[in-house]
Amino acid sequence: MSDAVHLSLADDIALITIDNPPVNVASRAVRAGLMMALDRAEAAGVARVVLTGAGKTFVAGADAKEFSAPPRPPHLPDIANRIESFPVPVVAAINGAALGGGLELALACAARVAAPRATLGLPEVTLGVVPGAGGTQRLPRLVGLEQALSLIPEGRVIGAAEALRIGLVDAMTDDPVAAARILALPDRPATGARPAPACDPVAIEAARKQAARRSPQQIAPQRAIDLIEAAVRLSLAEGLALERQNFLDLKTGDQAAALRYVFFAERAAMGQGKAQGADVRSAVVVGGGTMGAGIAYALAGIGVTVTLVETDAAAVERARANIARLFDDAVKRGKASAERAASDMERLFTFRAGYDDLPPVDIAIEAVFEDLSIKRQVFAALDAALPETAILATNTSYLDPDRITEGLRNPTRFLGLHFFSPAHVMKLVEVIRARDTGPETLVTALRLAARLRKIPVLAGVCDGFIGNRILTRYRQCCDVMLIEGALPAQIDAAMRGFGLAMGPYEVQDLSGLDIAYANRKRLGWKTMPGFRYIPIADRIVEETGRLGRKTGAGWYDHTGGKAVSSALIDGIVVEESARAGIVRRRFTDAEIVARATAAMVEEGFRILGERIAERAADIDLVMIHGYGFPRWRGGPMHWAGRVGLSEILRRIEGYAAEDPLSWSVPDLLARAAAEGKTPEEL
Ligand code: NAI
Repeated sequence: MSDAVHLSLADDIALITIDNPPVNVASRAVRAGLMMALDRAEAAGVARVVLTGAGKTFVAGADAKEFSAPPRPPHLPDIANRIESFPVPVVAAINGAALGGGLELALACAARVAAPRATLGLPEVTLGVVPGAGGTQRLPRLVGLEQALSLIPEGRVIGAAEALRIGLVDAMTDDPVAAARILALPDRPATGARPAPACDPVAIEAARKQAARRSPQQIAPQRAIDLIEAAVRLSLAEGLALERQNFLDLKTGDQAAALRYVFFAERAAMGQGKAQGADVRSAVVVGGGTMGAGIAYALAGIGVTVTLVETDAAAVERARANIARLFDDAVKRGKASAERAASDMERLFTFRAGYDDLPPVDIAIEAVFEDLSIKRQVFAALDAALPETAILATNTSYLDPDRITEGLRNPTRFLGLHFFSPAHVMKLVEVIRARDTGPETLVTALRLAARLRKIPVLAGVCDGFIGNRILTRYRQCCDVMLIEGALPAQIDAAMRGFGLAMGPYEVQDLSGLDIAYANRKRLGWKTMPGFRYIPIADRIVEETGRLGRKTGAGWYDHTGGKAVSSALIDGIVVEESARAGIVRRRFTDAEIVARATAAMVEEGFRILGERIAERAADIDLVMIHGYGFPRWRGGPMHWAGRVGLSEILRRIEGYAAEDPLSWSVPDLLARAAAEGKTPEEL
């Protein structure tokens, strides 16, 4: 018997236990072990087989590591078929997560018993594929078309109670193995032998629309719907064959490759926080505005006590109100009871104006105005008020952390923690290693990020770190296209067409034009030698006072919740082209996308070349989780690798030849292209 699968025979029952820590993925060893165990159980002439998982999971799915290679037998669909046609009933005792291939095995069983903590789902579409071992054919036969449509196309995972309600499991109990041994089996055909569910064209059409809205341009959710629809008209055998063919076809495609890559990159990033390190239990957060309130609320969410420091009594009250609003939102969304929210706010928060009598906390996180001298005063005060063991972190977006630390007693405990807005929602945090940041400081911060269930990405010191630096370059490239002939709405639409959540001008209207304006001023773009300065955005701020949605107008007019192109803005754009002596030309959407993505990749290669980022994957995680880059394209660096680095190089060389002030080829890109490497290999 294989180590990954155990068989025990007693009382006419074969108990098969899948034991492949940590999460019992259906690796080849598990598959081979299962086939062998089933053969032995049959030979032993048992009356029933109970199938379960060791530890806290049933089976968490297929082994995504095996996805990049051709599948090796025995295949999961064959095991599912063997279970379904087994001479005696096989009952699944679902002790924990039954996901993907795990649920497909359970679906082939004669009955299913789940522990209350079990989770069930077919999340394959999140990896760019469809279920490949009968999920799309057996699930609709078991729970009906509508439930299958609500689960598979978005990869939704449900709890045992809901699974019981929709008939996905037959019973819920604390000891599913004991229950599975004695469960009275209803007299019914195997799931696969049941009649196909009734066709429901309305439900199918609704599911298609929803998938197109939720996962635009993604193939797998639509294919999953095709397959569920096919279950209505095809025999099980035909349906399974069609499903397998779709699974194998999607598995080798660009989208699945990108989604798999991102999945592993996330796991690696989150794994960094698993290292040993001190646990943060108490914190000071300085500044209770947009970011400070969100950070403080996130910390309280993992039980960290927070002392929130503001400047004066009025600012304290504003901060208190900001945090109370976050608790209220959670209550409204049903995430917490009103009593729980009130007691957490009372128990975990203290508010202070100034630094007198601060408790000796483990970490202080600063989120005050983006102003170097204010930040330096804050850190001087924290340095004096807190014990020397406390970690000091800044949430600055652009300022140089090494200048903020000047004069600190012990700069090794200083670092940047760059959260994204809203800080309690966004999963990304850039962990900035400043000049003197010590290793324990980094370890503690990574551990805190892991507890906050964030994706931490290490970054070195430069203007804008990873994400805002790429954003700045990308926006500058778009502004050049404006002055040469494109209009904001066209650029936004083209970038949305590529898959970005929003276009660059829509994003600016959301976050406020004043932020980027202040940044351009700080960098001195207007007078910077050797730089192609485009005055359009500055003119909008200085002459029109349109700062985005918060003032009702920015790049667009915002009326009644809609963004409408503005003749005034388009007029400024055209005027600036004339002033610069540029004859405006037509840009196709494809050209806009090619240039804007090349600008991101160009900056990404610089960041990698300077070792601001350690890996291309880190850049991709930042752009996906912080800036709305489409996950299914894998991030700009992965995407560049799929396009081919020599092609990207050729594009940038072409742009640089016509506009050397805006474009230049990063050394690392030229080298990687010459050596035929992908970004991931650098
Ligand atoms: P904000 O203006 O909403 O809040 C700043 C808060 O700091 C205000 O409540 C203010 O009263 C308080 N404050 C100012 N000086 C203080 C002092 N000396 N002591 C104590 N409190 C003081 O600003 P926001 O947006 O929260 O930004 C804060 C920091 O976070 C900035 O460095 C910003 O660059 C950074 N950041 C902002 C992001 C955003 O999307 N808003 C995203 C990531 C970082």
